[in-house]
Amino acid sequence: MVEQATSRIVTGQAVSKKMADGQAVSKEITTGNREWSPSSWKSYTALQQPDWPSSDALDSITTKLASMPALVMPADVHRLQDELARVATGNAFLLQAGDCSESFDEFSARAIRDKLKVILQMAVALTYASGLPVVKVGRIAGQFAKPRSSATERVGNTDLPAFRGHMVNCELPDLLSRTPDPQRLISAYNQSSATLTLLNTFSSGGFADLSHVHSWNLEFVASSKQGKRYNKIANEIDQALRFISACGIDMDSVESLHRVNFYTSHEALILRYEESLTRNDPFSGSWYDSSAHMLWVGERTRQLDGAHVEYLSGVSNPIGMKVSGSITSDELIALCDKLDPDRTPGKLTLITRIGHTKIEDLLPPLLEAVKQEGFPVIWACDPMHANTITAESGRKTRRFDDILEETKGFFNAHREVGTWPGGIHIELTGDNVTECLGGLDNLAEDQLHLRYTTTCDPRLNARQSIELAFQVAEMLRA
Ligand code: TRP
Ligand code: MN
Repeated sequence: MVEQATSRIVTGQAVSKKMADGQAVSKEITTGNREWSPSSWKSYTALQQPDWPSSDALDSITTKLASMPALVMPADVHRLQDELARVATGNAFLLQAGDCSESFDEFSARAIRDKLKVILQMAVALTYASGLPVVKVGRIAGQFAKPRSSATERVGNTDLPAFRGHMVNCELPDLLSRTPDPQRLISAYNQSSATLTLLNTFSSGGFADLSHVHSWNLEFVASSKQGKRYNKIANEIDQALRFISACGIDMDSVESLHRVNFYTSHEALILRYEESLTRNDPFSGSWYDSSAHMLWVGERTRQLDGAHVEYLSGVSNPIGMKVSGSITSDELIALCDKLDPDRTPGKLTLITRIGHTKIEDLLPPLLEAVKQEGFPVIWACDPMHANTITAESGRKTRRFDDILEETKGFFNAHREVGTWPGGIHIELTGDNVTECLGGLDNLAEDQLHLRYTTTCDPRLNARQSIELAFQVAEMLRA
């Protein structure tokens, strides 16, 4: 099956015809969700959907998914919403981090534990420096689909369907591997479920213990000459913990020191998957997407009249939206209005990915516009996606310094406008990969090939991630 010439794929027969006739979709889209249902997105244009070879096979898979248990529970989704409300009002900080795209091949308890470990280490530094709770959300347990700039990829002298993430196909460059396989939706569900089980175990057991996590940070600081830079904060945390225990607080008996709330998120890209996991919450009567606690819409699929925005406008989960420097204030306000019509604090997180050279110019007007209109959004900085470069070897990479620069620009922009720099959104792994340049170990271009294992974008490795957190900690204190 060959992809259509453009990546604009419309789902459903009737709609295809309508689109082919060039008719506009419903005009009622900006006026709330009166007409919303889990499948109402089908009357809108859905970009970035795979060209599934058989709609019967897809239908039987989604029917099966619709009968399977919810992956996350409404009470947990609501708790995340409450925690995010605190971020929106400047009383907490959001740390959202994980893989660019999770892999079916690199699935192990060790890999998940190491990813959680890094995120927890980052969270300790950020909690201490901000003096505020850090809301911890992984790009994990469902982050299996990728938007692509072209529906096909030229390999030799054939055009193969583009790799769209393991929820859809396999990256190997042959027609069979690249043909979308709906059975993969079930595999994605199963891997998400197993990942959630592990995350629950690790986040509620001894693994997430504060002193434990802090001791890993001390190891990080001691592990290299350059790491000594971060001695000061690490030692202060050490002092603070000793102070608490010296005051007679029995740290062993304080439950909250031994566990964390850890939430999952992914890009809601493959709408047939998200639709089939949409459930009704009998207590509130509202719909929620049970595939993750939080979902986001990507830069490429956030059209106001598009299917992704329509779908996400009707679920009660907290929603993220990626925002590049090319958005206009009017467009942004219209999207806020559609995704957060009730203006619920923390319901909508705007994740900016503007680029280290442009952020200080382009972000302040957007912050002003949203502030002016009174939307209680969270602003989070994704310093990864607009700082991707191609190394001489042809590998995609990112410079640690550019990532840091964009984050600084984000803090400066918020200081200028008087808004709260609510969080960061990072692509990372707990493994010692060689995908991004620089950092304490000064990773160089000629080392990129050593352990370059990402299935999509270059991620910070464990040490680069922790260093970034210590740097952000310094920004939070400034
Ligand atoms: N439960 C608290 C929190 O999540 C404190 C805490 C326990 C913690 N273990 C942690 C904080 C690990 C960060 C990392 O904030
Ligand atoms: Mn990415």
